[in-house]
Amino acid sequence: MPFETSIVAAAPAGFTTPLLAIAVPQGEMPASLGALDKSTEGALTRIYASKDFNGKVDESVLLHPSGPAARLLLIGLGKVADLNPRRLRRAAASASKRARVLGVTSAAFHPAPEVVTVVGASVAAQVIAEGLSFGAWHFAEMKRPPEDPKPVLDNFQILAAADKAEFDKGHRIGAAIAAGQTLTRGLQVLPSNVCTPTYLGNRAEEIGKRHGIGVTVMDLAAITREGMGALLCVSQGGPEEPRFIILEYKGGSGAPVVLVGKGVTFDTGGISIKPAQNMEEMKYDMSGAAAVLGTFEMLGRLKPKINVIGLIPSTENMPSGTAIKPGDVVKSHFGKTIEIINTDAEGRLILCDALSWARRYQPSCVLDTATLTGAVVIALGHMASGVLGTDEGLIAEVQAAGERSGERVWPLPLWDEYRDLIKSDIADVKNSGGRPAGTITGAWFLKEFVEGYPWVHLDIAGTAYTEREDSTMVKGPTGVMVRLFSEFLLTRASKA
Ligand code: BES
Ligand code: MN
Ligand code: ZN
Repeated sequence: MPFETSIVAAAPAGFTTPLLAIAVPQGEMPASLGALDKSTEGALTRIYASKDFNGKVDESVLLHPSGPAARLLLIGLGKVADLNPRRLRRAAASASKRARVLGVTSAAFHPAPEVVTVVGASVAAQVIAEGLSFGAWHFAEMKRPPEDPKPVLDNFQILAAADKAEFDKGHRIGAAIAAGQTLTRGLQVLPSNVCTPTYLGNRAEEIGKRHGIGVTVMDLAAITREGMGALLCVSQGGPEEPRFIILEYKGGSGAPVVLVGKGVTFDTGGISIKPAQNMEEMKYDMSGAAAVLGTFEMLGRLKPKINVIGLIPSTENMPSGTAIKPGDVVKSHFGKTIEIINTDAEGRLILCDALSWARRYQPSCVLDTATLTGAVVIALGHMASGVLGTDEGLIAEVQAAGERSGERVWPLPLWDEYRDLIKSDIADVKNSGGRPAGTITGAWFLKEFVEGYPWVHLDIAGTAYTEREDSTMVKGPTGVMVRLFSEFLLTRASKA
């Protein structure tokens, strides 16, 4: 059974559940928990008096009180003055991760009313739904089932002490975004021998059918016919056929937002081959594509009043006797010629044909997302995605959506002076500017193919997956950009 969350109009005192998680601000026991304290014979009074728990960010304590909740999990949110939706989402994620690891099949989450007042009931319910689903995520489908299978956590009830209607409203949004993000992570985690460009095309069609969203999947012949020479030159190194996937969600009037996602299902580097160390992580090189598909899952569920086009160029990047070689020159869909300096700079090649294709929709804006450069990890680490673009207003809008969604982005400059680094001796542009400012030259290359619309590029090489487990998630895919894209689109739809 898939993991689900629901809103229940109930107070925490007397609520029967295997595990009751309570998010509380730093400091004294919140007054609202008095009834629960009584019903647990003073369990809360005792833990607060002991000072073993203070409610600091990420602090948690597990109690086994007497009463109808078998376990009480207190989770700290930090100081009330610093409270925000991101902290609440994070607390929810750590609650569900803990519940899953403990092996309970169901649990409940109660945000202290003192917290709900600060964040707002609707936003609280939204981010709790997002967080619970985020923390519960794991992937065991490729393991042989154990002989004594652990119980599976399949539902989390969110206790609404008041404001049920507002909780319901926010929950509907949060649950849809969570479903999108779960779909994205499920795609990201798949190995490249399963998740091929053909597979991504099939999954896009499946999403389209389920929600009545138009999907067109172009095969090798169609891509060739359309002259997408940059996408083709990457795919020519391997036997897997490329795909160019188009999704068209029509929910409103007006120019569409176009979302573009890099869909390299495995990046060996090609002839400019990568070192063996950690190369298995390059199955995640389709994370941008997966984020676009997850966003369409959200759109299909919420049906907001906006038009959105999704474009996914997808291929493997393989070395072989037929592979593109350094020094080769190809002609892009846009018409510009490209000198291939490094076959490992393949993401920008497949994206440039998609950005060129995007012109036909006369979009209100284009947002692309890609695991594009190792350099963005050096610049920003794993805390934020890089954002660059042609329109300061759009960058600010994306950055604000990033803050609200907890998927933070941080700008890097796209000054004209950087253009020199991708000047080619014999073609219109070259695909690599070398090591300096790697994220910026990657974006500058893309900008060469942007014409007639405001554009923003999101480099998620440092945020699409984690190599380390933490209190909110297992090691692996993060589904990053589903929440940011959702926040961006839903805000635009609400203003239309
Ligand atoms: N897919 C990689 C970028 C990447 C690196 C993603 C690490 C996730 C983690 C991309 O195709 C790539 O290889 N970029 C090169 C560009 C260079 C050759 C100009 C890079 O970053 O080294
Ligand atoms: Mn590469
Ligand atoms: Zn790549």
